Amino acid sequence: MARVTTQFVCQSCATVHRKWSGKCDTCGEWNTIVEESDDTNVPRGVSKAGGKPVAFTSLDGAPEESPRRLTGLAEFDQVCGGGLVPGSALLVGGDPGIGKSTLLLQAAALLARAGVTVAYISGEEAIDQIRLRAARLGLADTPVDLASATNIRDILAALDAPNSAEIAIIDSIQTMYAENLDSAPGTVAQVRTCAQELIRVAKRRGVTMILVGHVTKEGAIAGPRVLEHMVDAVLYFEGERENQFRLLRAVKNRFGATNEIGVFEMTDTGLTEVENPSELFIAGHRDATSGSAVFAGIEGTRPLLVEIQALVAPTPLGTPRRAVVGWDSSRLAMIIAVLQTRCGMNLGAHDVYLNVAGGLRVGEPAADLAVAAALVSAHLEQPLPPRTVVFGEIGLGGEVRSVGQADARLREAEKLGFERALTPPLGTGGKSGSSRAPTRLDVSEIARLRDLFNRFNVAPQRGNLATA
Ligand code: TYD
Ligand code: MG
Repeated sequence: MARVTTQFVCQSCATVHRKWSGKCDTCGEWNTIVEESDDTNVPRGVSKAGGKPVAFTSLDGAPEESPRRLTGLAEFDQVCGGGLVPGSALLVGGDPGIGKSTLLLQAAALLARAGVTVAYISGEEAIDQIRLRAARLGLADTPVDLASATNIRDILAALDAPNSAEIAIIDSIQTMYAENLDSAPGTVAQVRTCAQELIRVAKRRGVTMILVGHVTKEGAIAGPRVLEHMVDAVLYFEGERENQFRLLRAVKNRFGATNEIGVFEMTDTGLTEVENPSELFIAGHRDATSGSAVFAGIEGTRPLLVEIQALVAPTPLGTPRRAVVGWDSSRLAMIIAVLQTRCGMNLGAHDVYLNVAGGLRVGEPAADLAVAAALVSAHLEQPLPPRTVVFGEIGLGGEVRSVGQADARLREAEKLGFERALTPPLGTGGKSGSSRAPTRLDVSEIARLRDLFNRFNVAPQRGNLATA
């Protein structure tokens, strides 16, 4: 009888360890190592006897452009790079409860209405629950093929058939299981095997396979990290559950731009698309509030204005607090250090709180100057001049560096009624090589972070700024 051996597999990066430990040395994640029977991960030798040699061809053939299917959810289509590609696999990841099932049910219903055959297979909800949700979304009358199933063999039997669905949605990949594996659903071995089989069917039948995967912020649940390498596109659905805004972000896309975002709002009747996200992210912004700066950012290919808020408060603690929501905390530490060293603004005895309003996560270094402006404004208790947008990257020497797409940022600000901009030096051609288009904004180019403080010296004379 074969000896049953086990091994320890990191559920985040799939590294195999010889023994259990609390932290995976490879990816640095905690509590991700799980004991599994090792029948699935043993590399077996491959014999080349009987193999058909692959046929080679040249690079210069005309690529076959397969027509894309538009879901009718414009934001979703845009993030996919212009619609769904037949024969591809798409992973939609996100926190549990963020709205993945809602989004995909809406997309499925719209596609079905347009005459596309869509299969929606749920391993999480019973048919009645899905029907209830569809009724709530006002989509009960759409011809989506519904199933509640978790056995991958049955699902494959249904999908790997002539005239099967053109679009298949598997909600979620963590609930699916292959009987021939001992490990529980949701483990790396199961997730990988099920996904592999589904993707194979997608390629063979020209089905667009949409896999739903739960990921927590800590990345503790198995799956999506392993899946990212297997699928053609990875979209993450993000947002704070307490907040109604949701962002769909492409982090990988073989068929389009990455970092493209779509913005949705969760309402009583499902997700609605937000056509002008800038308006939404600066909706709560009030001029004449200290500690607030509007950052003119770029997400994917679209400009987006977001409000950055800072609070600076004296602290009795020996080690002051630095709390950040929506931005990188080490980047905040860097900016505080530059403000101190290059500009003499010492926050060593102050707690600092930084928040990107609206639940957005900003990743661009171009937000540095806006963060600095919010911090300086909070510290001096003076608001920035009204109707001002800010962008620019800060270097360790205290210099403000130019960033890409300055024109697009300024144009968006102009469109939304802003009047002033604090920017890095423009017009030198910059990285993008484009000369600057004329703008109606009153642009102040800030070469050194120190110069930012001059903007505040004028602020107290409210008289000449009371235009807003
Ligand atoms: P869901 O799509 O089930 O999340 P996921 O599949 O990512 O786990 O979303 C569930 C949440 O969305 C739940 O908290 C209720 C909320 N919701 C609405 O606010 N409005 C709606 O119309 C629907 C269907 C859900
Ligand atoms: Mg769900």
